[in-house]
Amino acid sequence: MTEVPRPTEVTEGDCEALDLWKPLLPEDIGAGEDLHMRVPAPLVQEVKDSLDQHMISYSVLIPDVQELVDHSMPRERNSPRQVPDGYDYTQYHPMEEIYQWMTEIQNSNSELVTQHYLGNTVENRPMYYLKISQPSDKTKKIIWMDCGIHAREWITPAFCQWFVKEILQNYKSDPKISRFLQNLDLYILPVLNIDGYIYSWEEDRLWRKNRSPHMNGTCYGTDLNRNFNSSWGSIGVSYNCSSIIFCGSGPESEPETKAVAQLIERKKSDILCYLTIHSYGQYILIPYGSTTEPPSNSEELMYVGEKAAAALMEKYGTSYEVGSTSLILYSNSGSSRDWAHMIGIPFSYTFELRDKGTHGFVLPPDQIQPTCEETMLAVTSIIDYVNHKYFPGEAVMLSSSSLGLSLYLSVVLTWTVS
Ligand code: ARG
Ligand code: ZN
Repeated sequence: MTEVPRPTEVTEGDCEALDLWKPLLPEDIGAGEDLHMRVPAPLVQEVKDSLDQHMISYSVLIPDVQELVDHSMPRERNSPRQVPDGYDYTQYHPMEEIYQWMTEIQNSNSELVTQHYLGNTVENRPMYYLKISQPSDKTKKIIWMDCGIHAREWITPAFCQWFVKEILQNYKSDPKISRFLQNLDLYILPVLNIDGYIYSWEEDRLWRKNRSPHMNGTCYGTDLNRNFNSSWGSIGVSYNCSSIIFCGSGPESEPETKAVAQLIERKKSDILCYLTIHSYGQYILIPYGSTTEPPSNSEELMYVGEKAAAALMEKYGTSYEVGSTSLILYSNSGSSRDWAHMIGIPFSYTFELRDKGTHGFVLPPDQIQPTCEETMLAVTSIIDYVNHKYFPGEAVMLSSSSLGLSLYLSVVLTWTVS
């Protein structure tokens, strides 16, 4: 690779050598917009010279990706932690620990949490989601959240686990959580792309896709976020199985996609909100990625997204951009977010968590806690809005202050009459 990538000159082959991190596709490179790329160590000087020669300004975000990767690996992995007290939510966990965590979290919270089988992965591993549901006679609606659709985005399974922990710790004391749990069940899929996640721990930290073999095993993996049945294969994808955005051989060609889609399809009339967590870039994205035509409820989606971003910012000042995927990030088809909205789930968002490129896909473990804390505020803000919208009035009827006021009024009235 000797050329600097410029929109008109880039071919798909160059892209493979470059490892573009932002945007993911050379055709999405735009004049005046930031571009992030990982350069192989032996080529660094050549690339710098070439950039200088073309008078393109640049800075080094990550001097040594390998070193960053090494530092993101927990120091000693030989003592699997116990829940509820011992599990370390401020470290990244390999899949076997997440499996164990799921079992233990349901065992130690059996009044609220159940684990459910979804299907199997390409490599035949079981997929489970957790259902957090307060026992009640009422028919409830559902909030869905998945993490880890892209293997290397490790901060996202960490967030799903954090979210479950926070809900379980605080549902009695936090009025917002206890309010929405009366009406809403939470379905959490901590790692959607399990095979890919394991591969990113064991073989290639920057792996993105699942592990389906193609062309007799000459290339591997489908981008599961290009594999859903929403304008599948139409834009922002590749049909080349060695590409990181290979969309698969057809919509829902992958068992992981199919497992998720079947469950959501079955429950869709009850699901009010679909959240899918990614990194990086600090965005809250609304549909669509496959067309610039806004969804019918885009104004409300924007309003709720902005509110969530404002809540997030209050914690540590982290700023998020809210908007339509195709307008503020890039076009893509076959995403789960677009699909969820297209089948009728009214609130559908993609979160792109921290950061904005300083560490990119390799967010250091010391940022797990602040990232999760601030994201928690955004996610609960969305859930709270949805709860108020679909279950209006209940909060007022149940609030103790209004109850106190009506008692007070009746006392006064009694006194006046007598
Ligand atoms: N989670 C997104 C994806 O892999 C990240 C893309 C947006 N950010 C970026 N740096 N390109 O599709
Ligand atoms: Zn992603």
